[in-house]
Amino acid sequence: MSEVNLDGVRNILGRIDLSEKLTNGKVRPDYLIPLLQDIQDEYGYLPRPALELISREGGIPLSRIFGVVTFYEQFYLEPRGKHMVKCCRGTACHVKNGAKIASAISKELGIEEGGTSADGLFTFETVACLGTCFLAPVMMIDDSYYGNLEESDVRTILERYREGGVK
Ligand code: FES
Repeated sequence: MSEVNLDGVRNILGRIDLSEKLTNGKVRPDYLIPLLQDIQDEYGYLPRPALELISREGGIPLSRIFGVVTFYEQFYLEPRGKHMVKCCRGTACHVKNGAKIASAISKELGIEEGGTSADGLFTFETVACLGTCFLAPVMMIDDSYYGNLEESDVRTILERYREGGVK
């Protein structure tokens, strides 16, 4: 297991005026979420040693921090790829061969759903609906939608991200 450099967390804790955020010497719950967001922005996910440091410095039980982290989908406990690939498995997409698109993504990236590619570029997830059923079958990469997909489109689109054509 690689060691996590906690300087980023210390910088974030050093930037905030903790006295404003404390009640009885403890970080107020309403400040915990923005604090976790700052740390995730810094690391791309929430490393456990970072959470342990916040727990110690902020006087917040680690169990409470984990309670918040696991409740909100926006927080990640594992490193994520640079690009987030979401493939729809909803009904509209399913009837238009969405499962084949998901398989093509999985095969192209060499990972299962929930995994991150070995080059650290992509994390792959499936979702219940992307809200663009009229484009079925659909996948989304970061903020961009790709619809009316054929299996053969998957490689072409992913290549653009690999080559850095899409940041
Ligand atoms: S079912 Fe796929 S976008 Fe809605």
